[in-house]
Amino acid sequence: MKQTLRKPIEPEDPRKPALAPGLLIAVEGLDGSGKSTQLYLLKRWLELENYRVFLTEWNSSEMVKNATKKGKKSQLLTPTTFSLIHSTDFADRYERQIQPLLRAGYIVLADRYIFTAFARDSVRQCDQQWLRNLYSFAKVPDMTFFFNVPLQTALDRILSGRPKLKFHEAGMDLNLSPDPYESFRIFQGRIHKQYLQLAKEYKFEMIDATQSIEDQQQYVRNLVSERVDLAQYKIHKGRN
Ligand SMILES: Nc1ncnc2c1ncn2[C@@H]1O[C@H](COP(=O)(O)OP(=O)(O)OP(=O)(O)O)[C@@H](O)[C@H]1O
Ligand SMILES: [Mg+2]
Repeated sequence: MKQTLRKPIEPEDPRKPALAPGLLIAVEGLDGSGKSTQLYLLKRWLELENYRVFLTEWNSSEMVKNATKKGKKSQLLTPTTFSLIHSTDFADRYERQIQPLLRAGYIVLADRYIFTAFARDSVRQCDQQWLRNLYSFAKVPDMTFFFNVPLQTALDRILSGRPKLKFHEAGMDLNLSPDPYESFRIFQGRIHKQYLQLAKEYKFEMIDATQSIEDQQQYVRNLVSERVDLAQYKIHKGRN
């Protein structure tokens, strides 16, 4: 039987003025800093309180998944092609999920956002202005939480979950050191420096991510409740 292809969701025209009544919250930080843990807990809380909420993760677009996997595995990506693959992934999610849901009045939670590309890709020697132009279609988040940890804490947390560092997370493609742990320290140390500059420029909410999961979550929830009129995102049950 002939298969019919599913029509993709009409992407929003990125040039349209953003009416976005929604709220965009992003988390950023080094690998292993605890971003996903905190964002998941925030999402659960918002869901249980009956708010419209949606979570999107960096590098998760189905459309680009295979290309990213293949490119990483064969180690054929240059800094530019690596960056373009991530930006394609982001653009796909932005147009199909983030922007339409913001327009529909959702709280969109982003596990990593454009700042990940700004920090990482500039360490991989992509031009800063080129990166900013590349992502210029994307809305700046209403709040960006930055989970700040020492490199050693990030490393310990990653290695408590699995035995080895991943090739790209250790920045092994940059030939900084033959030792993955040393390479991780140099690579992630440079990313951290970039992040601290971005934190000032984009007014990140700095979180001491060495604290317990519970304490950080309480702080995050308090800050969201203080800054945002959450009532406007409540799901109103229809009348029967
Ligand atoms: N405050 C904390 N104290 C101790 N361990 C933590 C804390 N927060 C998270 N962890 C643990 O550290 C590990 C990494 O956490 P998580 O996956 O949330 O980090 P991440 O920032 O999302 O990393 P990645 O960038 O690689 O996705 C997990 O095993 C998690 O349970
Ligand atoms: Mg994560």
